[in-house]
Amino acid sequence: MLAGPRKHFINGQWVDGHRAQFFPSLDPATGERLAELARGDSLDIAEAVAAARGAFGQWQFSDGLARGRLLGVVAQKIRAEAQELARLESLDTGKPLSQARTDVEVASRYFEFYSGVADKIGGETIPVPGPFLDYTGREPLGVCAIIIPWNYPLQIGARAIAAPLAAGNTVVLKPAEEASLSVLELARITADAGFPPGVVNVVTGYGDEAGAPLASHRQINHLTFTGSVEIGKKVAAQAAANVVPVTLELGGKSPNIVFASADLPRAVPIIVRSILQNAGQTCSAGSRLLVEDAICDEVMARVLEQFQSVSIGPGIDDRQLGPLISAQQKARVLRYLTEAADQGLRISQAPSLPQELARGNFVAPTMLHDVPLSHALVQEEIFGPVVTVTRFGAEEEAIRLANGTEYGLVAAVWTEHVAQAHRVARRIHAGQVFVNTYGAGGGVEMPFGGYGQSGYGREKGLEALRHYTQVKNISVYVGD
Ligand code: NAI
Ligand code: MG
Repeated sequence: MLAGPRKHFINGQWVDGHRAQFFPSLDPATGERLAELARGDSLDIAEAVAAARGAFGQWQFSDGLARGRLLGVVAQKIRAEAQELARLESLDTGKPLSQARTDVEVASRYFEFYSGVADKIGGETIPVPGPFLDYTGREPLGVCAIIIPWNYPLQIGARAIAAPLAAGNTVVLKPAEEASLSVLELARITADAGFPPGVVNVVTGYGDEAGAPLASHRQINHLTFTGSVEIGKKVAAQAAANVVPVTLELGGKSPNIVFASADLPRAVPIIVRSILQNAGQTCSAGSRLLVEDAICDEVMARVLEQFQSVSIGPGIDDRQLGPLISAQQKARVLRYLTEAADQGLRISQAPSLPQELARGNFVAPTMLHDVPLSHALVQEEIFGPVVTVTRFGAEEEAIRLANGTEYGLVAAVWTEHVAQAHRVARRIHAGQVFVNTYGAGGGVEMPFGGYGQSGYGREKGLEALRHYTQVKNISVYVGD
């Protein structure tokens, strides 16, 4: 177990919280206790929001240039601590060490990206009839509340705070109870970098005890939530009661659409990675494989061949596939697979799990053959290393299948025909479409968010800044 309990970070101080209670955070590879986290509640949230509100008083008028420099220092410090941060993230989430290294690099990139734009958030001059000068400016909102999940704590934590901070907001972040360690380190790094006390606050704890009071707090000015649809709807309703705007990122059921002309040797490894990355616990996982009839058997054989050679083990051993985050998530995934087997669906699972991994939350890569569109396995987010395969005949059918769930986060189109690529991309109901790639370079610069049940609002890129600022119009009489 890591030494010492982990505390909340409020107003620049490490505090136990008013109850001074702690709860265990478990190692997903072994089920053993990894660390103790402070169990925050509504009073701790109230304290953090008050700190953020207090800090906003001055911070909102800080120069973009100064904020940008601070963000740049955070980026450098994350890089300087990359080894330790990656180890911690891997231990805490179970993800393979090299994937955790990528997360650390991407987290650093968020701060670097928003560092460069903090001093470029401007407005416009608007021509109006008469002797008036009319212009707009973009002002920060105030206190941004952020609730994040356990699958990419450092990456999602970084993207969710770097943009609002760049725009002059202050933040209160509630990480997931399953994995909070790297986010607490991130809070420390922002303080080391010189962010004033109260600008960045982190309260750990359970969703109902710490998350709910944050989402429903009257003194927050924006809420960003990443997680399940069920909780997303709940927190959005709570925020709505206080007229607080919300960004929701609620996952998906994202398809890889493979046409007969696709370059399979190039496509298949990327498709496999899109479902096995972080053991399939990725909002944008490529969890549906839609393949043109003519090549479907071949694609399935190639994918299964790659599954067969996947190495499995604790994240820290840096195999290709780590454990799921918790026994609960494993049970959830296995429930889906048992139901599928009971219904007579054909399931290929490979390789088989080594005996010594039985204690951890491991699930082998799994393919479900010929699953109809209406099936729960195709409609619901499974959040494990599980891909469903569905065949299509014509392009029209591919589009119908791709758009056939309530989600709409990401899709990928695999084809060598340029017109087809654009034609299909245009008709896909999703916030982000890749052509002959998936996930491209970490995506820091690209607006990211969902259609339909995948949520609303956009994170990442310049687009995110629009959600963390409000427009003020100023009209000046310049006659006489
Ligand atoms: P969740 O939505 O319950 O948890 C996400 C965050 O919300 C955590 O920080 C949690 O503490 C917080 N939370 C939980 N209940 C809350 C409440 N009443 N008020 C305020 N905050 C609350 O997700 P969970 O239970 O961890 O996973 C269940 C399923 O959700 C997964 O199997 C997956 O399908 C989906 N999910 C999607 C994610 C994505 O990246 N879009 C991330 C995590 C889960
Ligand atoms: Mg939950």
